[in-house]
Amino acid sequence: MFFSASKLKVVKQATVEFSESNKTLQWSETDGNLLDFAESAGISPMSSCRSGHCGACTVELVAGQIIYEHDVSADLQGNQILLCSAKPATKHIKIKI
Ligand code: FES
Repeated sequence: MFFSASKLKVVKQATVEFSESNKTLQWSETDGNLLDFAESAGISPMSSCRSGHCGACTVELVAGQIIYEHDVSADLQGNQILLCSAKPATKHIKIKI
């Protein structure tokens, strides 16, 4: 349910909750992917390729849904998502970071 092949679409705005950082912020289209957004909020997730292939930015999506705007190839389990390639597809998402 997290892949671009679904009927999900990127929302224009979303509330993004970073649960372990105790930050809840408003995301909008111009904020880009969730890795860029987290970094702009002073959070420093692990990352490497920044293009959806290495898996370094893998985190758990606790609530809501995301969409990838390009193909990703990292190996994901359960509710794991790749921050570097994801944007919100619901008006509220919660990420364990
Ligand atoms: S930084 Fe490599 S998959 Fe996100």
